[in-house]
Amino acid sequence: MLKCRIADHAAFTVISLMLLCGAAFSWAADAPGVEARQTLSFDQGWRFHLGDVADGEKPRTADPDWRLLDVPHDFSIEGNPGADPNTMEGPFDKKSPGGTGAGALNGGIGWYRKTFTLPDSAKGKRIRVLFDGVYMDSDVWLNGTHLGKHPYGYTSFQYDLTPNLRPGANVLAVRVNVQQPCSRWYSGAGIYRHVWLTIAEPLHVAPWGTYVTTPKVADAEADVRVRTRVLNDGAEAAKATLITTIIGAREANNAAEERVIETIPAGASHEFDQTLKVPRPKRWSIEDPYLYRAITKVRVGDRLVDRVETPFGIRTIEFTAENGFLLNGKRVQLQGVCDHHDLGCLGSAVHARGIERQLEILKAMGCNAIRTSHNPPAPELLEFCDRMGLVVMDEAFDEWVIPKSGMRYGYGRFFDQWSERDLVSMIHRDRNHPCVILWSIGNEIKEQGAAQGGAMAKRLVDICHREDPTRPVTSGCNKVGPASKNGFIAALDVVGINYNIAEYAKQRGKVLVAAETSSALSTRGHYGLELKPDGKVGINKRADNQCVSYDLDHPGWGCTAETSLLAIRNAPWVAGEFVWTGFDYIGEPTPYGWPSRSSYFGIIDLAGFPKDRYYLYQSQWTAKPVIHLLPHWNWKGFEGKEVPVWCFTNAESVELLLNGKSLGSRDFKDSKSLHLEWKVPYEPGVLKAVGKKGAQTITDEVRTAGEPARLIVRPDRGQIAADGADLSYVEVRVVDKDGNLCPSADNEIAFGLEGPGAIAGVDNGDPTSHEPFKATRHKAFHGLCLAVVKAARTPGEIRLSATSPGIQSQPAAITTAPPPAGR
Ligand code: GAL
Repeated sequence: MLKCRIADHAAFTVISLMLLCGAAFSWAADAPGVEARQTLSFDQGWRFHLGDVADGEKPRTADPDWRLLDVPHDFSIEGNPGADPNTMEGPFDKKSPGGTGAGALNGGIGWYRKTFTLPDSAKGKRIRVLFDGVYMDSDVWLNGTHLGKHPYGYTSFQYDLTPNLRPGANVLAVRVNVQQPCSRWYSGAGIYRHVWLTIAEPLHVAPWGTYVTTPKVADAEADVRVRTRVLNDGAEAAKATLITTIIGAREANNAAEERVIETIPAGASHEFDQTLKVPRPKRWSIEDPYLYRAITKVRVGDRLVDRVETPFGIRTIEFTAENGFLLNGKRVQLQGVCDHHDLGCLGSAVHARGIERQLEILKAMGCNAIRTSHNPPAPELLEFCDRMGLVVMDEAFDEWVIPKSGMRYGYGRFFDQWSERDLVSMIHRDRNHPCVILWSIGNEIKEQGAAQGGAMAKRLVDICHREDPTRPVTSGCNKVGPASKNGFIAALDVVGINYNIAEYAKQRGKVLVAAETSSALSTRGHYGLELKPDGKVGINKRADNQCVSYDLDHPGWGCTAETSLLAIRNAPWVAGEFVWTGFDYIGEPTPYGWPSRSSYFGIIDLAGFPKDRYYLYQSQWTAKPVIHLLPHWNWKGFEGKEVPVWCFTNAESVELLLNGKSLGSRDFKDSKSLHLEWKVPYEPGVLKAVGKKGAQTITDEVRTAGEPARLIVRPDRGQIAADGADLSYVEVRVVDKDGNLCPSADNEIAFGLEGPGAIAGVDNGDPTSHEPFKATRHKAFHGLCLAVVKAARTPGEIRLSATSPGIQSQPAAITTAPPPAGR
């Protein structure tokens, strides 16, 4: 029996079985032989056509020559063969209507069709399809009948298929329409998140129908309030018994069970409202993200008709004007990042492991908070944050009615008609996640400066309060002045300040969070050192469409990482910051245009390789010993010239040595800075930093590398699940004969894969590269390259080779094993 790939898939608050298309399935409920709800993956076996199709929704329209694929799928990342070949480089289109802001990748119209047959056991049941997200402006038909339209690409939505189902083959058709420019960043295009089918009895828990809150939390006991909406779609009134049990993740049976009986008329629904007592509750926290599950059972007499699981946490949150954010009564400094949703070379197609890996890299940096800029995320992100202990600002919009500059096809077209539905969709889907601590109604909304802005903000805030009074509401404001005059700021529970450091002091007294900070610019491995006419070494901050990796560059509205860290440190009444951004993302290549096509804002590059700044944050955001030297030490032609050397560290003092000779120690005693700096007359060899952190000695070194001689091929995980979805991220390092990274190596690497898997994407983190992401070869960039290997569904051994002419290498071995039980 196969279980859901992502157990306790919170989007539907259901745990059940996964039906692999066409495979048999059964449900073992607590009463043997009784089938309750089934939640089935509906990802496999879609037909896809790029471009419009007349009668694409009609079942008789022939589709066998359409491409067969599984979703999540992003057609934008693949490139658009219909675009002008004269302006295309790889998948990138110089004339893309979305511009480089959207990554120079085209949208367009795409059709998906899935033909399916339901098992006999589905007869008489309620069948729904849930789309976690479709970008964008989708229309859905079942057997030619239009089920609905869903313009926003980031909210989840569902349709009841029951009235239009037929015995035998059914055809579900989806048309997406990505008219550009519609987004300030890369959106992706298509059914880019998971699709689920639920089969429920006519009497069942409504979609997103459980709502768990914890109105009273004390050491001895917590009150857990569970509201459950039960629908009766049957022809007769039903006497429903609702039984709710609370179970802890690690200690079973630690809470009471409650049962209530209610008669629900045919065609009606009833909201059950129960409060359960949990003795000695274990709090959900960043250090120990302990989860409970509310198990909901609906019975009619002895018969179990529905069963739903809702993961939740017991914790208290509070935002204060003088002491920032309190989790379980204790101040927590928000050490957050903003991130867009793309996964680099995988585009926007949701890959759970891709999201998890991003969060792991961020957590290791000391990050404890994510802002889902500027839209509701994939549900998997919140599931991981619940489990990993990261708090989340869940954001609804980047645009209300007034469009952002040039966004002719942005969300503004739909706001009046859809904003309430989209906001409610986000809140109903996400409100049981303990990780979510803030709702955001928007980012840098133009209406901050409009007369009606205050009333519009209040309407959205009121909707949030109505649907979830337990969390405060914020908005990322970059125009605090005007927004203070029209009621916009006054409508917010927590004022989110984007940039504008001076406002931290000016707004003191209000509840504040630095919703967006820094926007520092850098390219991994690029230092811009050059010999100036006076013979000195200078740093050319911007050249060749790259930005230097010293923490020196930012756009006019931003500041360096260091400036922002210091400003936040000096304003403890602000709840903390969300840095723009954790990861580089496709699109918005500020300060450049073509040929650049992805951002320079990330602390981590698009391939997931940390830039130098990563260690600055790590040194400030963690207690672990951090010492990191920059730049690299290959400066042929600079012999004897003074090269700026920086050290990011939390050591109290650091001594620098070049080829064993001391260049002196530095410390932070009289320093206003968060890094140490030396000017070092260049000579090749070993530059070593020796730090003293209490009784500990910590070191880092950079070595002059010789010519590329070897490739080190290193998977992040040598064993992954054979589930058709799991990923191993394989890093390739170009090193010299002694194993030193060659810092300017750009060798082309050819990948070869044998065994039950495929190469899902390749990248090197270069924001200007026009090589395709969907390929089996890619150049290295500053010595590094990446291949993402995806497991097939058959267990076995994968061998990934990475080769480059004249360079030695050993292939990497990755074992794919049957998925562990519970996945
Ligand atoms: C902000 C905006 C972000 C991003 C950033 C780049 O003003 O909210 O979405 O565009 O600038 O610096």
